[in-house]
Amino acid sequence: MTTDTAAQAAYVVAALLFILSLAGLSQHKTSRSGVVWGIAGMVVALAATVGLASRSITASGLVLIVVATALGAGIGLWRARVVEMTGMPELIAIMHSLVGLAAAFVGWNGYLDVDAELSGSLLGIHHAEVFIGVFIGAVTFTGSVVAYLKLSARINSRPLTLPGKHVLNIGALVAFVGLTVAFVVRPGMGLLIAVTVIALALGAHLVASIGGGDMPVVVSMLNSYSGWAAAASGFLLANNLLIVTGALVGSSGAYLSYIMCKAMNRSFISVIAGGFGTPAASADDDEQGEHREINAEETAELLGNATSVIITPGYGMAVAQAQYPVAELARKLRDRGVEVRFGIHPVAGRLPGHMNVLLAEANVPYDIVLEMDEINDDFAATSVVLVIGANDTVNPAATDNPSSPIAGMPVLHVWEAANVIVFKRSMAAGYAGVQNPLFFRENTQMLFGDARQRVEDILRGLDSLDAPVPEMAATSR
Ligand code: TAP
Repeated sequence: MTTDTAAQAAYVVAALLFILSLAGLSQHKTSRSGVVWGIAGMVVALAATVGLASRSITASGLVLIVVATALGAGIGLWRARVVEMTGMPELIAIMHSLVGLAAAFVGWNGYLDVDAELSGSLLGIHHAEVFIGVFIGAVTFTGSVVAYLKLSARINSRPLTLPGKHVLNIGALVAFVGLTVAFVVRPGMGLLIAVTVIALALGAHLVASIGGGDMPVVVSMLNSYSGWAAAASGFLLANNLLIVTGALVGSSGAYLSYIMCKAMNRSFISVIAGGFGTPAASADDDEQGEHREINAEETAELLGNATSVIITPGYGMAVAQAQYPVAELARKLRDRGVEVRFGIHPVAGRLPGHMNVLLAEANVPYDIVLEMDEINDDFAATSVVLVIGANDTVNPAATDNPSSPIAGMPVLHVWEAANVIVFKRSMAAGYAGVQNPLFFRENTQMLFGDARQRVEDILRGLDSLDAPVPEMAATSR
């Protein structure tokens, strides 16, 4: 078997491993094996690519590949070890920027180093691939850099609203189509520079005009763009694996964006076009009425007497790193015979699956962690709901108030339970900047403070419920 045939066979194996990886990652139970399939696929892909390159590469070239691989792997390992879960969206954004940059470079290289054997319509197709690759790569690059700057709060996350911004975006797309035709007919460096500049500006403008509330969708959209950018590079490099992998990333990112738009009741097109997610004015607390407070001991008592409990975690659980005491609380209550389940909103936290990852980390059994649609009808028959650091995802205004900025967003119907305890540090609004009428409902009580500390207090409260009372023991004797 020639090196080329072996490499192509290895590419097919790697592509299958990537598909297995995606299938594994789509379910909680199989997600760890999904990661392992992905790593295995990448090892096979890298080995096959280096094997292919080594046929025609000099010794110094091989050294460069080894150094680049070691450097990339080192940086990747270091970042993955130190990143906080709450910092994942910006890490993902900056990684997408590298994919975009690489695709733009591959495109430019395709222009500067044209295969001498190409002619006629094949050469035309090659030039179209160059142009499209550079365009998608450059849009992804600057879009991802702006997303990174917004997500890491290095720039303001308010949407940029330039006059005629939709005209600017459409104008850039029309210019791209026109320049592509011109480039295929008569390729020239001037045209390639022009499309690079237009694409860099378009990427920055598209993401700058999207508001903070829609940033999660933007991250998954950039994920999709980076996939298409990689696929475009695959065509240029005649690398089948890059085409397959790029298409997998591109389509799964697009589907994830669609799911997230549905979960946030946003139209896909309006998110892409930008301008949504403007921080909404929150209603005055006075308009809402009084809120009631509860302390940890009283909460422990309420939980001790409950028959069923649903815990709905949100971003605050991640900030407080409260998943470990929360898992312990669930275990203790189940040991006492209380039915405990978790209700997870699709956009709770700051990245898809954020809550699922935290709960899995704390060894919460998968079968008691349910999606919003699976649990939403059960709140009415529940004794106590613990809203731990969640806010927008449990806001009844989304269903009750058509003029609310989050109207129509599907939310967890926690208010239907007999008792709702909300864990947070203040009466502040959540990510969308909208006040939450849940806090002022009759069956809601606020448990103020850091979520981790309050859950630990409740655990102590539950222990003392079980401990024999010394005086009573003495009296009874
Ligand atoms: P949010 O609406 O963001 O509310 C989180 C709440 O946690 C805040 O009200 C905050 O109140 C509280 N909190 C923060 N630190 C805390 C701590 N240490 N202890 C206790 N409470 C704490 O959360 P959510 O319900 O999870 O909703 C997520 C929001 O983020 C949605 O609007 C969603 O669209 C958006 N978003 C989602 C994603 C993805 S993909 N999941 C990505 C980006 C944005 P205090 O400050 O008063 O404590």
